[in-house]
Amino acid sequence: MAPDIRPCDATLGAVVSEIALGELTEPQWQVVEAAFHEFAVLIFPNQHLTDAQQIEFGAHFGRIEQLVADRNIVPISNRREDGSLLADEAHGMQVMMGNEGWHTDSSYMPLAAKASVLSAHVVPESGGETEWADMRAAFDALDASTQQQLQGLAAYHSLYYSQGQIGHVVKPGAGYGFHTQHTPRRPLVKRHPVTNCPSLYVGRHAYGVGSKDGSEMLDEIASAQLLDDLVSFACQPPRIIQHTWTPGDIVVWDNRCVLHRARPYDHREARVMKHTRIAGEPDSETCLPKTA
Ligand code: OGA
Ligand code: MN
Repeated sequence: MAPDIRPCDATLGAVVSEIALGELTEPQWQVVEAAFHEFAVLIFPNQHLTDAQQIEFGAHFGRIEQLVADRNIVPISNRREDGSLLADEAHGMQVMMGNEGWHTDSSYMPLAAKASVLSAHVVPESGGETEWADMRAAFDALDASTQQQLQGLAAYHSLYYSQGQIGHVVKPGAGYGFHTQHTPRRPLVKRHPVTNCPSLYVGRHAYGVGSKDGSEMLDEIASAQLLDDLVSFACQPPRIIQHTWTPGDIVVWDNRCVLHRARPYDHREARVMKHTRIAGEPDSETCLPKTA
C-alpha cells in the first residue's frame, strides 16, 4: 500500500499514514526519504515501534550518533525505571528543560546531526507538545541585504553556553553532548546537502557571532541580539507546526533545516519519549576549521 502523505498547514511538516515503519519496504523507504527532503518533519501516528525497530528506522537515514556510549536509543524522560519522577534540579531534567528553547540537535558537536527520531511512550494530560520551525522558509523570508550580510557570518555552538542561559552550570566532561574539545563554529546560513536550499542555522546553542574567517567579532550584546532577533523572526507562522503526542507516535526531523523545541508540562506527571539521533555527513555537517 502506498503511504498517505498529508502536508501540514505550514511551510513544513507532513503527517504520514498507511505505512508500518516496523515493516518498511524499499519502495516505501524511497517515498519516506523523498518526503523527508520535501517536508523536513514527518509525523507517523500510531506506530508503536520496539526500540530495535526505532533504531532500524533511524539507520535508514544514516549512521546513528551515540548520545550515550553504546546506546542507539536514549530515553527523554522524567521517570526513572523504578517509576519515581525526577526533580527539576536533576541534571537530566535540566537538560530536558533546556529542550524547551528553540534548537537544532548536536550543533555543539564537531559533527552536527542530520536527523532525529523521537517516539512517544507516556504523555502528560496537557502540555509536552513538540514544535518545529522551518529555517528554509525563514531564510527565504529575509530581505536580500540581510540574507547577504548573514552569508558572511558564523557562530559558536555550545551546550555549556545554552544550559548556562537557563542557570544549569555543567562541569566539562559531563557526558552527553558536553564536548571536551574546542567549541565548534558554524555558518549562520547552511546549504542543505541534498536539496541545496539555504536555511538559517541558529538556535539556543549559538553565541559569539563573527565573520566566517573569525577575524572580526560582534560584541557580546550585538551578537546575542542578532541571534535572538533571528530566532524570533524565524519561529513564527506559517513556519511552525506543533504536534500533540499520543503514545505510539514517531516523528523524524531534519536538523539541517529545522529548529525544534519541547513545550512545558506539569512535571508531577510522567512524560516518556525515546530519541534516536542520526549523525550528519562529514562533508556537510562538520564545523568550520578552528581559527588561530
Ligand atoms: C530532543 C528534543 C523535544 C521534546 O529529543 O532532541 O529536543 O519535545 N525533544 O522532547
Ligand atoms: Mn532536541
